[in-house]
Amino acid sequence: MQKIMEQLQEELCSAFEKAGYDKKYAKVTVSNRPDLCQYQCNGALAAAKEYHKAPIQMANEVVEQLAGSNTFLEITAQQPGFINMTVSHVFLADYINRMAASDTFGCEKVEKSETIVIDYGGANVAKPLHVGHLRSAIIGESIKRTARYMGYEVIGDVHLGDWGLQIGLIITELRHRQPDLVYFDAGYEGEYPEEAPFTMADLEEIYPYASGYSKEHEEYKEEAQTATAELQMGRRGYLALWQHIINVSVADLKAIYEQLNVSFDLWKKESDAQPYIPQMIQDMKDGGYAYIDEGALVVDVKEETDTKEIPPCMILKSNGATLYNTTDLATIVERRKLFHPKKIIYVVDKRQSLYFEQVFRCARKTKLIDEDVDLIFVGFGTMNGKDGKPFKTRDGGVLRLETLLSDVAAQVEKKMAERDMEDSVRKVTAQKIGLAAIKYGDLSNQASKDYIFDVDRFTSFEGNTGPYILYTIVRIKSLMNKVAANGISVGEETKVLPSKSKSQTEVMLALSKWSETIEAAFEEQAPHKICQYVYELSDAFNKFYHENKIVTNEDETVRASYISLSRLVGRVLETGIDLLGLEAPEQM
Ligand code: ARG
Repeated sequence: MQKIMEQLQEELCSAFEKAGYDKKYAKVTVSNRPDLCQYQCNGALAAAKEYHKAPIQMANEVVEQLAGSNTFLEITAQQPGFINMTVSHVFLADYINRMAASDTFGCEKVEKSETIVIDYGGANVAKPLHVGHLRSAIIGESIKRTARYMGYEVIGDVHLGDWGLQIGLIITELRHRQPDLVYFDAGYEGEYPEEAPFTMADLEEIYPYASGYSKEHEEYKEEAQTATAELQMGRRGYLALWQHIINVSVADLKAIYEQLNVSFDLWKKESDAQPYIPQMIQDMKDGGYAYIDEGALVVDVKEETDTKEIPPCMILKSNGATLYNTTDLATIVERRKLFHPKKIIYVVDKRQSLYFEQVFRCARKTKLIDEDVDLIFVGFGTMNGKDGKPFKTRDGGVLRLETLLSDVAAQVEKKMAERDMEDSVRKVTAQKIGLAAIKYGDLSNQASKDYIFDVDRFTSFEGNTGPYILYTIVRIKSLMNKVAANGISVGEETKVLPSKSKSQTEVMLALSKWSETIEAAFEEQAPHKICQYVYELSDAFNKFYHENKIVTNEDETVRASYISLSRLVGRVLETGIDLLGLEAPEQM
């Protein structure tokens, strides 16, 4: 479905041409002075140079061509040469009715469904989750849902970190504590026990301890590095321990992601790329890309145009161990083989941007992927506390996601203490709202920026917050219940009539921006644009709701039109929050 802006653009193109000017100047944008008009065209200002005329004169000539058009309620030329446009009520209502009749509210799905892999979540087994992982999960989930909505074949992969030093550290610490465990007997050839020799709670204690200890004891650290290398080379006992670590951690992670309403299609891990490494390295050597430097195998990735130093990409350490780089490159090989993606999108802390620059360059240079495949890095900023420093829990320790979620839910529950609902309902509702508060608080900022995690603001029922959006949806749901309770039936096909008030026009105008918003949010991997949209729509709707009688309207046709409009706003908002990964409760 053609967007309003495109329809206006067409009209302006022909008016520019009829007035004797090149249509390339007929560019229409959303007005930056919404108090004056809805859309604008500044083309006459740009065209003045070419035609050596006063812009206002040209703008006037163009406007004259459109005098008879039904599209506009008002179109005027303004000093020094702007063309200001406000669309007619009939035109806008027609657009809204076509939007209502479309499954995707007028958003054009892609014609050819290509595959996109989204690498997000990125938790590390056996290590505590940190806020970066929270952001990756929240942002990645929204990007995934948006891409899927656009019609792409999308594969979300959690890409767990399971192949690095953290495993070597745990193995080493276990060995110090329980040297007699069968896993450490190099000569053992039998089956290993099915039961892990530790629980999740044990791992949560062991890892931070071992990590801290290794920083102060060089020998211990070397032991852990050797254990990591031995694991990677296939030492049986270590592989068995690693498998236990994965089993225990993945069960825990699944529960956490489920609470976040984040779901992955694939639970792949860094180690899954292992089988692709030998051939990849061979190809890099045969192609003349990889060479030995001080015992390590590296590929140069710097380019002449670089303004800063881009170090070589290291493929193998001198002790033969693989690195984060190696698994990421081999994962590209694996994904290409298994899924033939057109795009791979990585949602990772922006502090890894140089790293990904190296990996992407290396992948291109060594021809691991076809030239037309996009490798996209979506780097996000840090979630800070109110003190402006990276967010910490109250006791300054690492973040337990469950604790964060339950703390925020408890805060919401307190606010809802006065509400007349059963305690169990209140609890579940507060959890939904709390989660929405956290996720929306994150998503409403441009991903690359740092932001301040402010629970009081995020959980507010007013302003640009998750709870405010949910509140609007709940309001519409209860409005619809009232419609049904009053025995009013307004069929799906009931048209929204041309606007009768400013507040109604604002709702319709806000609604009409759906398709361009979703497209931009997808193209730019920018969920904050969807937040902005649902916020503006909610705000416009709530004004309309306060200023107009809807269910009680005496005029039946007006009543039907308002109900139809409200229902559409509800449907669009629910779709919007679904793309953000939020859910609305039935009441709040
Ligand atoms: N596990 C990594 C970390 O905690 C994030 C993984 C990001 N994805 C990737 N393909 N490297 O930093």
